[in-house]
Amino acid sequence: MLQTMAYNPKQFNLSALQGISDKTLEMHFKLYEGYVKSVNELNEKITEMLKDGTVDQDEFPAYSELNRRLGFEYNGMVLHEYYFGNLKKQGTGAPASDSDFVKGAEKSFGNYDLWKTDFVGVGKMRGVGWAVCYRDPHNGMLSNHWITLHEIGNVSGFIPILVMDVWEHAFILDYAPADRAKYIEAFFSNINWQRVDERVRAELITPSEAA
Ligand SMILES: [Fe+2]
Repeated sequence: MLQTMAYNPKQFNLSALQGISDKTLEMHFKLYEGYVKSVNELNEKITEMLKDGTVDQDEFPAYSELNRRLGFEYNGMVLHEYYFGNLKKQGTGAPASDSDFVKGAEKSFGNYDLWKTDFVGVGKMRGVGWAVCYRDPHNGMLSNHWITLHEIGNVSGFIPILVMDVWEHAFILDYAPADRAKYIEAFFSNINWQRVDERVRAELITPSEAA
């Protein structure tokens, strides 16, 4: 039997946030664990198909479908880890003015307020998805992106710096669907800006360096 690795759900010590209830968080952690489980199941099924060393023609439709689902489940897992990871109890609404994040926002948008206007605007876009602030590891530029579902719109190799879930499940127990703006405000009051700064400083191997 082939030995393969599996993912374990991470634990997040989050409760008593401002404007995001513990009930929402508990439900959300369970949803996240569902993505981890689905990633493991998909990988197991693909491994099983590969076991005889070939993907038979009659296996190909099922094999293709399993692979198509990977993008949804993997990004569903990873984006939730970034999201929970950039929240904390007693977060601060705004980052320190001399933080690496603010310096990056100033270089990329002119000032923090304009960066925030853009990020909040992306978060209010109609549809099911995420707002993600990415850092380009080549030049340090920050840019905000709308991600449809979990997998459409992510930029390869860019580093997620701040990740905000705007699927309705992220706030429906606390706010009406039309009140997404209130949830976004609550999200901002719980941001772990220290963690965001660590992500800004993270050194990753860029594609060109790896070549
Ligand atoms: Fe979510």
